[in-house]
Amino acid sequence: MVSLTQHHKKLERNITLLGVFAFLAVTVGGIVEIAPLFWIDNTIEKVDGMRPYTPLEQAGRDIYVREGCYVCHSQMIRPFRDEVERYGHYSLAAESMYDHPFQWGSKRTGPDLARVGGRYSDEWHVQHLKDPRAVVPESVMPPYAFLADRDLEIGDPAAQLVALKNVGVPYSKADIERAKADLLAQADPNADAGDLATRYPKAQIRDFDGNPQRLTEMDALVAYLQMLGTLVDVNSAAAQEDLAKEKGR
Ligand code: HEC
Repeated sequence: MVSLTQHHKKLERNITLLGVFAFLAVTVGGIVEIAPLFWIDNTIEKVDGMRPYTPLEQAGRDIYVREGCYVCHSQMIRPFRDEVERYGHYSLAAESMYDHPFQWGSKRTGPDLARVGGRYSDEWHVQHLKDPRAVVPESVMPPYAFLADRDLEIGDPAAQLVALKNVGVPYSKADIERAKADLLAQADPNADAGDLATRYPKAQIRDFDGNPQRLTEMDALVAYLQMLGTLVDVNSAAAQEDLAKEKGR
């Protein structure tokens, strides 16, 4: 024991020696942490049901980002009992794998939105976004009524999907070719949506803002909100994950 403390004394009193050993310790630690990332394909476990967002959902997501909804809302339910009881099953990593950038957020002035999809009707969302205090009197959320008056700027949805594909979102050739048609068809129940629902399982096809004559920013945003947290059957996905872990042990 004495010799060990003596060795350590030497280390502590010699700045060069201390530097060399500190460097070694950090190098070994760094290699252990970082090197495996080069050998595994993915750090996120795939789960059934997760799919890239439709062009309309993506457009809604862009509005969500543009309006800074993430400043007050998170999209990440943590695995704590109070969170799970309030918001539903905790978020799985795979559920934000196609988010560029992710919308986990860091502040909750309002509730978490990771599983808000399907919780309210479209009418509720439209009313709430136009005038939050009309449905939740104590709300401090700002109104976004203008979204219902603004035509959705369609731009070039195919180019957007190509950009996302370049960062790893697996859009197919058909998805990219039909991007604009898909975007228009999803918010128009009278249009021929083709195989939209096959390429994007669980895609909700309808008029979202209560005004079928126009395609507005409100349509896109509500389509996005109604999709959040609905793609993965979380209970069975989490059960599968647990099973895989059991087997791995
Ligand atoms: C200044 C902070 C703030 C901003 C910015 C904000 N919200 Fe909210 N939001 C709240 C608060 C507070 C609530 C809870 C009261 C209520 O329901 O209005 C809320 C509630 C909600 C709800 C209902 C959630 C639930 O589970 O009941 C939705 C959906 C929502 N906001 C969407 C949005 C969207 C979309 C945007 C951006 C266009 C946005 N919010 C911007 C503060 C904000």
